[in-house]
Amino acid sequence: MDNNAPIGVFDSGVGGLSILGEIRRLLPDEHLIYLADSAHCPYGIKHLPEIRQRTLVVAGYLIELGAKMIVVACNSACAAGLDQIREVHPEVPVVGVEPAVKPACNRTRNGKIGVLATKLTLTGAKFSSLVEQYGSGIEVYTQPAPGLVELVESGKVADPEAEDLLHQYLDPLLERQVDTIVLGCTHYPFLRPLIQKIAGPKVLILDTGAAVARQTRRVLEQKGIRNLGGTPGIDHFYTSGEPAEVAKVVKLLWKSGQEIVVRKAAV
Ligand code: DGL
Repeated sequence: MDNNAPIGVFDSGVGGLSILGEIRRLLPDEHLIYLADSAHCPYGIKHLPEIRQRTLVVAGYLIELGAKMIVVACNSACAAGLDQIREVHPEVPVVGVEPAVKPACNRTRNGKIGVLATKLTLTGAKFSSLVEQYGSGIEVYTQPAPGLVELVESGKVADPEAEDLLHQYLDPLLERQVDTIVLGCTHYPFLRPLIQKIAGPKVLILDTGAAVARQTRRVLEQKGIRNLGGTPGIDHFYTSGEPAEVAKVVKLLWKSGQEIVVRKAAV
């Protein structure tokens, strides 16, 4: 495997940019290909077999584009198809994401945590086993949050509409006095300022971006495929949707100062 080859990162849409940003910060020499499967977004309200199929198609496409490694920057896609990607492509290292239930259970002070994620993630076997493994003695309140992904996809991350919808989902958790809220969908970190505003400064909000970036670095080093070329890596963006539309939102959320070009992915 060529160390200079890119890392392929994907999500149902632009949410995975919250993970991509952490990878970019930690691994400045790596070339990155990001694919937003916008034509099939949102994943989290669809049925598992359909999303499993999509994750296999998208991961396969990134490998065809020359990715040396895949990061599945989507909790819903991981719930549906992470194991299957590993089965189908045993030669390619694959890093996934999962809601930060373990750190939340370790860090809660009053033993009450809330988890905001998609229905697909919250009803999956992976999530149940996370709670079983780490949540003993902890009150874990889950909250599916349809509509938030669409708001982020349309760049409405600070709108009153987003604040209203967030109140609907957060108020029941806050009434139960959770002191820690897990952002179990990679779109939600873009709503973090509003979430923190609603929850108040005492509530700890956790996501997994930095941990996933560290895991990506660990795996690259273990496999001996880390790029240490000493020159800045290049970011490439693809979408299965409408490139011009997706480019507008990428520009808003990916504050790199570089010119953003989004290419059409044939998936
Ligand atoms: N960003 C995704 C996740 O982490 C996907 C959300 C969706 O498409 O519903 O779950």
